[in-house]
Amino acid sequence: MPACPPSSDAPSPAARLEGLGVTYEDTPTPALDGLSLAVRPGEIHALVGESGSGKSTAGLAAIGLLPGEAVRVEGRVLLGDEVLPADAPERFAPLRGRKVAMVFQEPGTALHPAMRIGSQIAEAIHGGARGRAARRDRVAGLLRSVQLEPTPRLLRSFPHHLSGGMQQRVLIAMAMANQPLLLVADEPTTALDPTTQRDILDLIRDLARRERTGVLLVTHDLGIVHHYADELTVLRGGRTLEQGRTKEVLQAPAHPYTRELLAALPRPDFTAAPVAGGDSA
Ligand SMILES: Nc1ncnc2c1ncn2[C@@H]1O[C@H](COP(=O)(O)OP(=O)(O)O)[C@@H](O)[C@H]1O
Ligand SMILES: [Mg+2]
Repeated sequence: MPACPPSSDAPSPAARLEGLGVTYEDTPTPALDGLSLAVRPGEIHALVGESGSGKSTAGLAAIGLLPGEAVRVEGRVLLGDEVLPADAPERFAPLRGRKVAMVFQEPGTALHPAMRIGSQIAEAIHGGARGRAARRDRVAGLLRSVQLEPTPRLLRSFPHHLSGGMQQRVLIAMAMANQPLLLVADEPTTALDPTTQRDILDLIRDLARRERTGVLLVTHDLGIVHHYADELTVLRGGRTLEQGRTKEVLQAPAHPYTRELLAALPRPDFTAAPVAGGDSA
């Protein structure tokens, strides 16, 4: 493993959030207050914090999908050369599914229930693959990239025929179909069983590295952060408490709250890789 380069030498970010602020109606205090962070190509930047700390709000702001209740929105999102004011959702729309993509917690609700898997994936492909044969090959390639065999049976399946893990693989294939600069993944494995969780996170990490996509990974699980994130931002009440390279922050958290979160690390954590043939440790 190569050593982590110091931040100053790191490549320019895939995406940058600058001064994001969100206030919802009927709530005087902002749900998100001045969040700035960079997501580097091929890396995972984790947003962590307890429930209600503003993680999902940040993820939605990063893709221009804040709900109507977000009445005050500040800051901007930089995606490659694009500078997108966070309060201009119409600027994000043409880029979504192309330069920026997302994966959510409940894969079952993110797929179209009445559309076959093969067609859903084909619809996610923009540009390139012209003609039926080229499209079919591209769909097959995308399925293989998420370790699903593109059998006729799978292509003809409807979402409810698939397990949650398979559904999430399909959604990842769709999200990565156009090699986005930024992938926002909001608790993408919370609804899945632990073994599947690890497979899906491995997959996201490997695809991100391969495609040079920066991942903004929303999670409340510091075990996941420890194992997968290159960089992290700790949120509390919408404010940034701590930010930096994961290794450095977790080794020497500056803030007592981060130490508390660390102490609450779920067990068994993600550092314990499964050992084939059973492990009695
Ligand atoms: N659509 C909404 N309308 C009003 N308040 C909201 C809405 N979505 C989130 N909030 C509030 O914003 C705060 C941050 O929520 P959220 O971003 O979902 O946090 P997290 O993902 O960290 O759990 C919470 O206080 C939550 O109640
Ligand atoms: Mg959330």
